[in-house]
Amino acid sequence: MLAVQAEGKEIITIEGLAANGQLNPVQEAFVSHGAIQCGYCTPGMIMMAKSILDQNPDPSEDEIRSRLIGNLCRCTGYEKIVQAVRSLARPAEGRYQHE
Ligand code: FES
Repeated sequence: MLAVQAEGKEIITIEGLAANGQLNPVQEAFVSHGAIQCGYCTPGMIMMAKSILDQNPDPSEDEIRSRLIGNLCRCTGYEKIVQAVRSLARPAEGRYQHE
């Protein structure tokens, strides 16, 4: 994205997620699920995970994987990243639950 495309928009960086010394729940989930190894991809992964959950409180594994596809991780194999995001899913607020 070009900087000019963000003119007038709110920009949140990974540093802006933690508040008052407390990690954001997405950051906590990545730590507790071992979804962080070298950390190179982590800021992008966490920001994308937050975006996914903000747009859909109950994303499926397929949705998570397809939305994370542009973020490359050479350490984790993605399983723990997907598990971290799924751990934050709130089914009651998510999509219609077909029975
Ligand atoms: S944790 Fe190393 S590249 Fe993702």
